[in-house]
Amino acid sequence: MTHDDGPAEPLLVVDDLRVVFDTDRGPAVTVDGLSFEVRQGETLGIVGESGSGKSMTSLAILGLLPPTARVSGSIRFRGRELLPLSDREMRELRGNEISLVFQDALAALNPVMTVGDQLAEAVSVHHPKTSRDELHRRSIELLELVGIPSAETRIRQYPHEFSGGMRQRVDIAMAVANDPALLIADEPTTALDVTVQAQILDVLRTVQDRTGTTVMLVTHDLGVVAGTADRVLVMYAGNKVEEGPVEQTFYETAHPYTRGLLASLPRMDRRDRGERLFQIAGQPPAATALPSGCRFAPRCPSFAADPCAQSVPSPQTVGTDHVAACHRVANLREESA
Ligand SMILES: Nc1ncnc2c1ncn2[C@@H]1O[C@H](COP(=O)(O)OP(=O)(O)OP(=O)(O)O)[C@@H](O)[C@H]1O
Ligand code: SF4
Ligand SMILES: [Mg+2]
Repeated sequence: MTHDDGPAEPLLVVDDLRVVFDTDRGPAVTVDGLSFEVRQGETLGIVGESGSGKSMTSLAILGLLPPTARVSGSIRFRGRELLPLSDREMRELRGNEISLVFQDALAALNPVMTVGDQLAEAVSVHHPKTSRDELHRRSIELLELVGIPSAETRIRQYPHEFSGGMRQRVDIAMAVANDPALLIADEPTTALDVTVQAQILDVLRTVQDRTGTTVMLVTHDLGVVAGTADRVLVMYAGNKVEEGPVEQTFYETAHPYTRGLLASLPRMDRRDRGERLFQIAGQPPAATALPSGCRFAPRCPSFAADPCAQSVPSPQTVGTDHVAACHRVANLREESA
């Protein structure tokens, strides 16, 4: 970071992003007027139930949305507008300056290439002049970075010779091969068991400490965010409903949806361990059938016909760097005070 020209501009600025698909049942609005920023060096957690638009947001940033998607708004990365870029220009950025860790590492890796060759290719595709020796050295260094023992031997093996957790480490190694400024990890631990999940989150933290990369961590699990992210953005039905520093969002939760997510987290300190956890009743609305008022209204325990049913609430400041999009946020705070 530079220190001589005032506060640095955020690494990524997303403004009024909309992603819509035309379907037989009308337009499917999957991301609707979403604005947020990812700041240099931080981990931003993006959380929400299945279908809330998390992956559409990630894919929009990576230029990987299906061609049928209608996209509008603005995505600025290091001050450069990404949406108008050509496929070729986006390919140059992807895997180089912005990279992605997939949910399914097995699908992300090539089964008929050794792990070493894949790591070497990840580097050489963006740096074609790198020598074979240098590629070999870098592949070993990358496997060591993600905590894979016996890297010298491991680079000669194929993905099927690795366990699920080890493959996810390889996928992270591939993603950081070119020292990206921004790493987007979309549900990187969902396919793994709990112990391995924790190890992978540790690997992400180590990689971030050593390389200084900025991380956007997408997950449906608020628990994953608690130990990993600096700030959290909570999405619901294509909207941002709450955003703030992790501690504030957890301890001074402003939005009824975030409260519901928190209440449904398993807690080691609760007596009711083993009993059924709280679940938010009902389902999110379909992207083709969004209600005209607050999208959480049909499930909200704090619903009031007026104003909740009237209009979509916009984000308002509820604390330092902390916003929530709920018409009744002030009333709810008074009630819980
Ligand atoms: N090609 C498409 N046409 C129409 N709607 C789509 C299409 N692809 C995705 N959607 C819808 O977009 C919405 C958002 O999907 P997205 O994949 O971003 O959700 P997500 O938050 O990543 O969920 P998950 O936790 O399941 O990964 C969903 O309602 C989904 O049904
Ligand atoms: S606006 Fe109303 S319905 Fe929506 S979250 Fe707030 S209280 Fe609930
Ligand atoms: Mg997703």
